[in-house]
Amino acid sequence: MVLYQAKDYKDMSRKAANIISAQVIMKPNAVLGLATGSTPVGAYEQLVEWYNKGDIDFSQVTSVNLDEYKGLSGDNDQSYRYFMNKNLFDHVNIDKARTFVPDGTEPDSKVACAKYNAIIDSVGGIDLQLLGIGGNGHIGFNEPGSAFESLTHCVALKEDTIKANARFFETMDDVPKYAYTMGIKNIMSAKKVLLLASGKNKAKAVYESFFGPIVPGVPASVLQLHNDVIVIADEEALSLC
Ligand code: GLP
Repeated sequence: MVLYQAKDYKDMSRKAANIISAQVIMKPNAVLGLATGSTPVGAYEQLVEWYNKGDIDFSQVTSVNLDEYKGLSGDNDQSYRYFMNKNLFDHVNIDKARTFVPDGTEPDSKVACAKYNAIIDSVGGIDLQLLGIGGNGHIGFNEPGSAFESLTHCVALKEDTIKANARFFETMDDVPKYAYTMGIKNIMSAKKVLLLASGKNKAKAVYESFFGPIVPGVPASVLQLHNDVIVIADEEALSLC
């Protein structure tokens, strides 16, 4: 594992964008595993800026996203597909037919997850997987206790997550209760992993994940077993290390 200390969110984002951009320059048809959440937004902004300057070409890139809410279609502004279009895909020359996100509109979880695992296989696996980290060390929607051997699966969202999301929906019935997420095994199968962490609220998760024992109670700790992991964390996220 290589750990880079960034000064702040902006510095972390630029460093991350540099690594993603180097991956695409070295392998123009790379398969990028992408993530949502507030953490990678700055890196996506930087990539868009470099794309506009002609410094990066996404025309041959394929992407597979980590997760999606079950029940939401891509035109719902809370879906992760919508997030990816808004923050990256709509602004660069990636072929949208080669951007994959689990199908939130597929009601049969087994079908949705099997299809997504088949997609990951069919694109030849992931060259670079980008990750954020939850305050409790979760990656994707793999919450503490998730099996290290899991492939794409359906997870019941925690009560806290459902409540936190409620403000974005008209009624409680509309709030997603489940999500489809790549499993830890999918993430560990990526050739390279790039995890980003910013802010004090990530300090405990970063410390426990990379300086503590490898345990299912801290899902990101499994990354210590991966042979090509880059962690970029800012000073606040590293404040307990
Ligand atoms: C969600 C996402 C994760 C993300 C995490 C942290 O649970 N499923 O992929 O890493 O939130 O989000 P943020 O980057 O906004 O802190």
